[in-house]
Amino acid sequence: MAKLCFAGFPKMKEIYYNTSAGEYDSARTGKVRVHSQVYEPAADTYLLMETALKEVSSTDTVIEIGTGCGIIARELAKTAETVVAADINPYAVRCARANGVANVVRADLFSGIRGRYSLIVFNPPYIPIQESEKHDEWIECAWDGGPSGADVINRFLEQAKEHMTVNGRILLLISTITGVERVMERIGGLGMKAEEIASSRVPYERLTVLRSKAP
Ligand SMILES: C[S@@+](CC[C@H](N)C(=O)[O-])C[C@H]1O[C@@H](n2cnc3c(N)ncnc32)[C@H](O)[C@@H]1O
Repeated sequence: MAKLCFAGFPKMKEIYYNTSAGEYDSARTGKVRVHSQVYEPAADTYLLMETALKEVSSTDTVIEIGTGCGIIARELAKTAETVVAADINPYAVRCARANGVANVVRADLFSGIRGRYSLIVFNPPYIPIQESEKHDEWIECAWDGGPSGADVINRFLEQAKEHMTVNGRILLLISTITGVERVMERIGGLGMKAEEIASSRVPYERLTVLRSKAP
């Protein structure tokens, strides 16, 4: 992977919140800072955030995998009992901390993470990428779903099952680029049930949030 360059953390830009429909979100007044090696919040971010904010309760213990700049974790922390955020990209970990997310760890999915959570949230990388298409940049972790597009999602689902409390839920953002049916079958194969609870059409794809639980 590319060398880290944290010096002064200069490559940050400030962005205001949008809605999943692409409009300025007047209900949320915050700004987040985003480093050039970190995923900039987009329609997928806002759809998952809006859905997670409807789902979360004050008794939830939350983990957000792949937190990026931390925008979703930061909003969920206003309601949930606890929020842990994780990312494989060291720039994202640093960026989420800079945005006020208190509990951020660097991790490949759940590796090194102990305990169980009542709400697990993930906006995963889902674009099919071949080895020859990679450029050795940390930002690529945001979209590189491996050759199938579902490699990270499949690993996540297998591990997430072991980190859910009884009655725990997983909120997973899926695109038609990955194939919603394919992911739902995978979830079923792991002995969980899944339902679509939100969706939004954007250019070239439809985004869906799946909620999974033990049956
Ligand atoms: C599409 S971005 C979403 C970022 C942010 N949650 C949002 O919605 O704007 C996917 C994020 O997952 C992270 N990621 C990719 N593979 C990961 C892995 N194996 N373990 C942890 N995080 C990972 C990326 O670094 C990136 O921050």
